Amino acid sequence: MDKILILDFGGQYNQLIARRVRAEHVFAEIRPYSKVTCEDIVRSGYKGLIFTGGPNSVYDPNSPHFDPAILRLGVPLLGICYGHQLTAYMAGGTIAPAEGGSEYGKTKLYVSHCKLFEGVPEESICWMSHTDYVRVIPEGFQVIAHTDNCPCAGIADESAKIYGVQFHPEVTHTEYGTQILKNFVFSVCGCAPDWKMDDFIAGSVEKYRKELSGKKVLLALSGGVDSSVAAVLLHQAIGDRLFCVFVDHGLLRKNEGDFVEQTLGKKLGLNLIRVNAQERFLTKLRGVTEPEKKRKIIGEEFIRVFETEASKLGKLDLLAQGTIYPDVIESGKGDSAVIKSHHNVGGLPKNISFEGIVEPLRELFKDEVREVGTRLGIPRELVWRQPFPGPGLAVRVIGEITEEKLSLLREADAIFREELDNAKLETPCSQYFAVITDTRSVGVMGDARTYGYTLALRSVVTDDFMTAEWARLPYEVLEKASNRITNEVRGITRVVYDITSKPPATVEWE
Ligand code: XMP
Repeated sequence: MDKILILDFGGQYNQLIARRVRAEHVFAEIRPYSKVTCEDIVRSGYKGLIFTGGPNSVYDPNSPHFDPAILRLGVPLLGICYGHQLTAYMAGGTIAPAEGGSEYGKTKLYVSHCKLFEGVPEESICWMSHTDYVRVIPEGFQVIAHTDNCPCAGIADESAKIYGVQFHPEVTHTEYGTQILKNFVFSVCGCAPDWKMDDFIAGSVEKYRKELSGKKVLLALSGGVDSSVAAVLLHQAIGDRLFCVFVDHGLLRKNEGDFVEQTLGKKLGLNLIRVNAQERFLTKLRGVTEPEKKRKIIGEEFIRVFETEASKLGKLDLLAQGTIYPDVIESGKGDSAVIKSHHNVGGLPKNISFEGIVEPLRELFKDEVREVGTRLGIPRELVWRQPFPGPGLAVRVIGEITEEKLSLLREADAIFREELDNAKLETPCSQYFAVITDTRSVGVMGDARTYGYTLALRSVVTDDFMTAEWARLPYEVLEKASNRITNEVRGITRVVYDITSKPPATVEWE
């Protein structure tokens, strides 16, 4: 399989570059610039290299640099933003602060004919975000693009297959960005489009069938997309030697535990062990109001329950997890199996010893995981599930967690989600749910005075959950949800809508 290596110099769009390349069915991986040597590049047989952007200036004493020998490897290279400046600098060019000041945002781009710009009109729009620029190009290079403010927005040494662009082809604001990346991977690097999810599934099943022959594997199933897809994939390879433990801590949404059991256990035939530990968790949480304490209790209790169940299964050889590629990149390692620190319910048992960890999805982005899930026959409802925090509804019940509050929340949350799903909004929300507050207020129903809880509705739009906008929901949707909740859920007298973005708020309330 042909591969592109993306060398990470600290840019904010690095994952986007990899996703764009993979969308063309060419495998791309991201590695920190400091961990890759020329020998690695040659040994791994990469067909092309992409240097990412980054916040530095090449002249900063601490700025990331690279062995200039990379330019002589004969491997095609595309530098983007800082990567472009660094390429020019390493090849003997000069970098300087842009004379017209920083260039930021949508900018008119003028290109001249070359392999990288095949099919790109002479004038189009690109996305710029830079302070420095390439003032003197290195010997052997030509300027292939400019903007009104930046005389050197692109360089090329076509005979060496080395290119640099000051703008960001990976962001959608660059009109011909996809075309430029396609030109690089196909015309310049000569990659074949052979990264296909069906092949990934077949290859993984075969690999694990061999590698895990005779082994027993344990998997903590949360019912989320990643652990479910990992489970179904491994089940195809090793059948009932995969033991999926699903802990129902009583903090799941309405009908969620049954849904997971029905779909993954009964329909898809996984060897699923559902542990009904609701009482255990609620007892431990009684009287606890402090958010971090709630999380800690749930995390610890989860491990204890999981250990007890695992010990009933006898000797288990390996632990499987639904780690995905962004987890691997964000852990900053990119090369070692680390137990997901932010794993669903705060970690996994430390005192059961395993021979190793199996992470069948560690190369995949979320959209690829979803595609694999769909191809494996997992229902849409599960594959497209919105994220749900490991500590579950515990972080959506403000103050003490009681059965009453949990039950009111489950009903109200189900109504809100149903109304939003029915609304089929043009811009779908990324996550939407209800939160039950600890505040009660007076209401009136018929002729009677009521006194019940205040419920908050939360709905956000985001790409990465690091930042999020509150969703501008149509009033009719909010009105219908509010009417239904106050009518159908006795005990809730007031409904409010959270209009805070992240930052300054977080998505969850606790
Ligand atoms: P915050 O509240 O930090 O949430 O803005 C960002 C995203 O992370 C989810 N979240 C969690 N997921 N365990 C998880 O698996 C957790 O403890 C946890 N806390 C928050 C949250 O639902 C949102 O999607």
